[in-house]
Amino acid sequence: MKPKVLITRRIPEPIIDKIREVADVFIWEKEDIPIPRDLLETKIVEVEGLFCLLTESIDAQLLEKAKNLKVISNMAVGYNNIDIETATKKGILVTNTPDVLTETTADLTFALLMATARRLVEASDFLRAGQWQTWSPNLLTGQDIFGATIGIIGMGRIGEAVARRTKGFNMKLLYNNRNRKLEVEQELGATYVPFEELLRESDFILVMTPYTTETKNLITAEHFKLMKKNAILINTARGGIVNESDLYEALVKGEIWAAGLDVFEQEPISTDHPLLTLPNVVTLPHIGSASIATRMKMADLAADNLVQAIRGEMPLNLVN
Ligand code: DGY
Repeated sequence: MKPKVLITRRIPEPIIDKIREVADVFIWEKEDIPIPRDLLETKIVEVEGLFCLLTESIDAQLLEKAKNLKVISNMAVGYNNIDIETATKKGILVTNTPDVLTETTADLTFALLMATARRLVEASDFLRAGQWQTWSPNLLTGQDIFGATIGIIGMGRIGEAVARRTKGFNMKLLYNNRNRKLEVEQELGATYVPFEELLRESDFILVMTPYTTETKNLITAEHFKLMKKNAILINTARGGIVNESDLYEALVKGEIWAAGLDVFEQEPISTDHPLLTLPNVVTLPHIGSASIATRMKMADLAADNLVQAIRGEMPLNLVN
């Protein structure tokens, strides 16, 4: 008898076939919404493999029921949705999908930076609403990107990929990270600066760090007060790293100029959230890695990791 695997959302058929070679597969595919928690709790009891997304909370309470589980393959590079400590104690392998989404996420980060600085969403809405009457010297003026100072918080793979993109815009590149990255300093002319100096000096502040207990609420009211009045905050990492109510206050008080957000504390963000009332906030529904090719690569890599673990091999992208 083949081991059982639960896949928590519809993924491309050839990738499911790959998993079917080693396992009996159950897929939650009724709708493109997260698997209901009670079904997840029922299914987790019998499966050896779990192919999941960042929308599933794989917490201690769920893992308690996972009597046969050997591997959790998360189709994301981030894995803050999984209780790694509990999984590790229970001998469950956890894998993620790094590298394949780096450039795509860096593209989106830069696109969001540019859209926020030059007010693209507001400008498009303005035109469609029939408000465009004439060319005007002050119409929808934004902030320059070329030659500006950018501060990247978290110089991991995606941070580095964003840093490479800044070169085409002749930006002054500052960064803060747990450790210095000498190769990035040499290759890209990046300057390592203390956290608060980065906040004080940057025109663009990019949040690119993983979401951990250390980075939760990394940016709060006191930090916005240090930033320039023309500063733009971009977050494509995880919502909880920036305190959203403090961000709202900072924007309303004019302590910073604008924000571009692809991620939120609660996803999906509620449509009556105060941040969505502000014209100087550009919001996206967590689409950093959402290119057709990259989503395919992520699903494929997550399947490979799962299959390797089910076969008793060491998966390529083990995180614990
Ligand atoms: C990730 O992989 O962690 C992104 O947030 C989604 O691609």
